[in-house]
Amino acid sequence: MGTPLGDILEDYDRLIPITILGVTYQVPENNILLRLLQYLRFDIMYGRFCWNGDCKNCALRFRKSTGQEGSALGCQLVVQPGLNVLQLPTGINPPNGNSSSED
Ligand code: FES
Repeated sequence: MGTPLGDILEDYDRLIPITILGVTYQVPENNILLRLLQYLRFDIMYGRFCWNGDCKNCALRFRKSTGQEGSALGCQLVVQPGLNVLQLPTGINPPNGNSSSED
């Protein structure tokens, strides 16, 4: 399946729903959250993020579809259907400037 960012995404067969700060998006399965924020054209301060698990600047809070809450690194977290991102890292904002949160 092709996308405008097709060459930076991992292979995928379908889109899956995830929620970020109360807004639900359809995103390619089998990809890490940080890459999907790029796919969704979130405003990312690229210099803050190493993309390889070293800096920890991409830490975020989430809730799984099972209700389990936790924290993870956005550059390591492969999204699952129903993932709910409760808080974004500093330096990442929604594309329309909406910074609302359900918390
Ligand atoms: S971007 Fe550096 S740890 Fe995730």
